[in-house]
Amino acid sequence: MNLDTNAWDGAGRRLYLQEVGTRDGFQMESVFIPTEDKIALIDRLSDAGLAKIEATAFVSPQAIPALRDAEIVLREIRRAPGVVYTCLVPNQRGAERAIEARADELNLVMSTSETHNIANLRMTREQSFAALSGVIDLSLAAGVPVNVSLSCVFGCPMEGDVPLETVLGWADRFLARGATGITLCDTTGMAYPSQVRATVTAFRERFPQAGMTLHFHNTRGMGLANVLAAIAAGADRFDASLGGLGGCPYAPGASGNVCTEEIVHALALMGYDTGCDLPLLLDCAARLPALVGHDVPSQLLKAGQRLALHAPPADFTQWRDRALARDQAQAA
Ligand code: COA
Ligand code: ZN
Repeated sequence: MNLDTNAWDGAGRRLYLQEVGTRDGFQMESVFIPTEDKIALIDRLSDAGLAKIEATAFVSPQAIPALRDAEIVLREIRRAPGVVYTCLVPNQRGAERAIEARADELNLVMSTSETHNIANLRMTREQSFAALSGVIDLSLAAGVPVNVSLSCVFGCPMEGDVPLETVLGWADRFLARGATGITLCDTTGMAYPSQVRATVTAFRERFPQAGMTLHFHNTRGMGLANVLAAIAAGADRFDASLGGLGGCPYAPGASGNVCTEEIVHALALMGYDTGCDLPLLLDCAARLPALVGHDVPSQLLKAGQRLALHAPPADFTQWRDRALARDQAQAA
């Protein structure tokens, strides 16, 4: 099947949405979101048809105080059948904590840009690879699958473009080491559609068996366009965050992820099957501003669904009658 010819007509094709707002979103918030509110939100999202929820991150609580309650969150959420509850893990300590708290999957993170990796994780990429190889061994021994999120795949805010060969090279090494999936992350919203298409095509040709997720940020307004370009090239799995929350504390100018409810809304109109309950997602998103203490980027939340129709203005009848009266006067 040539997937590239029919991207405008979803024709019921199944796509998988993975919520990252509770990790990528909440890690950026300056207020501490109460643990019970995090749990309540994840529990509601568990019924929304998402394939995966990145519930939290097992990172240093000094580095990311917003997620210092990772254990409690992961232990106390309700586990809906069919939903994978994954966690971001930067190192061995994080892996031990996540496995102990019964994560379904570990999501390891490394940047394809040397500068960004040192800024974010305080290690060279080779040092990260060596450390994460040990984490993969630990995780697989515990029977927990591993996904690897590669940051700055579509560009680094400090280094510029990262060569595609560099990206594919790191993916190759992690897959050979036992990772089951790779997430291609556009950490700071530098991706553009033709680049996305080339990257996804190259990845699928080189690693046809590997799980592949696309993780876009809407920093420069290209998020949805990039999702569509990735679908055209055969991608079917996307990270997104409720309300469009998100960012990276170590990437200058980074802003929110592509917005879950906006992506679901657009893809449903195009005939794709995301399996997601849009009214429930919108209802969850509507509660976010109170939770995080500020407005959220989601435009859909403000505008409503495309066919959520509005009543005509109050003086509509008067203008209609006058307009029709002009026709009658002319006909007379
Ligand atoms: N869980 C809990 N504590 C951790 C930890 C983890 N996964 N990793 C490190 N720590 C603690 C150590 O125990 C140590 O605590 P102490 O000072 O009380 O002894 C402290 O953090 C420093 O540990 P160290 O090994 O020197 O690591 P570091 O300070 O170089 O931290 C990171 C490196 C990357 C693990 C840490 O900075 C981090 O978690 N950063 C967050 C990265 C992130 O999430 N970025 C956004 C997503 S891409
Ligand atoms: Zn991100």
